[in-house]
Amino acid sequence: MALPQTPSFRLDGRRAFVPGGSRGIGLACAAALAQAGAHVVVAARGDDGVRTAVAELTAAGLSAEGMAMDVGDLAALDDFLADQAPFDILCNSAGLARHGPAIETTPEDFDAVARLNLRGAYFLAQRVARGMTGGGSIMQISSQMGHVGGVDRAVYCATKWGVEGMTRAMAIEWGPRNIRVNTICPTFIRTPLTEATFADPERRAWIDANIKLPRVGEVEDVMGAVLFLASDASAMVTGTSLLIDGGWTAG
Ligand SMILES: NC(=O)c1ccc[n+]([C@@H]2O[C@H](COP(=O)([O-])OP(=O)(O)OC[C@H]3O[C@@H](n4cnc5c(N)ncnc54)[C@H](OP(=O)(O)O)[C@@H]3O)[C@@H](O)[C@H]2O)c1
Repeated sequence: MALPQTPSFRLDGRRAFVPGGSRGIGLACAAALAQAGAHVVVAARGDDGVRTAVAELTAAGLSAEGMAMDVGDLAALDDFLADQAPFDILCNSAGLARHGPAIETTPEDFDAVARLNLRGAYFLAQRVARGMTGGGSIMQISSQMGHVGGVDRAVYCATKWGVEGMTRAMAIEWGPRNIRVNTICPTFIRTPLTEATFADPERRAWIDANIKLPRVGEVEDVMGAVLFLASDASAMVTGTSLLIDGGWTAG
């Protein structure tokens, strides 16, 4: 009898859209997808960041292009998608944090974070899923803060818990179309977004006390999860979260 074969982790011939792919976790996601053979389209607001990311990817022999855009701007997103062939993969890493005590949150801060992290993530998934006529994989870079609470993070947690909820509902709705929808939930990863948090000794002590493994996260820690969830290796995985939290939520 033939041995069962491990499904392929390769992504040759597939097209991946990576909002937030110009730096940090998103750039690592874009690299992981492209290194597995996908053609990757990165998007971010900053033109320079997009250009640099695409230059780094293509210099490494990978297939990539980029677009400077605000993915929270639905009209701009629709214009962009109208010019693109459908995507097989969406890995949304565009995100924003404005941390502070809940007692002091302004409506402006709430709206800015919710506009990108929740509303933006929702309509990105919706718009890209519309083109996925042959199935696909949608991944939202959520957070461990979509599973627990955190100091000064009421707004951020509200948006990430929202992403967790909508992901499950979308997975139920789109499962019959073979579109898989999942979240990736990192702990604190060293990126431009977390520089200020890591620089604060009190916050750093909080992080070190909660991550069970003996270090903080690096962007490379997210890359295997992205590859798994994008590829046929996870063909039966939908409506769930892959926590990359170093044991934070274990207790
Ligand atoms: N770092 C962590 O510890 C950590 C942990 C858990 C979850 N996360 C989540 O992971 C995601 C990425 O975080 P990161 O640490 O990699 O952040 P980052 O280094 O600040 O990168 C954010 C990316 O999103 C882009 N972006 C921001 N606003 C955008 C908009 N309106 N339209 C299009 N692109 C936009 C940024 O480029 P422009 O500024 O040029 O637009 C950049 O490419 C976020 O959703 C974050 O919540 C991060």
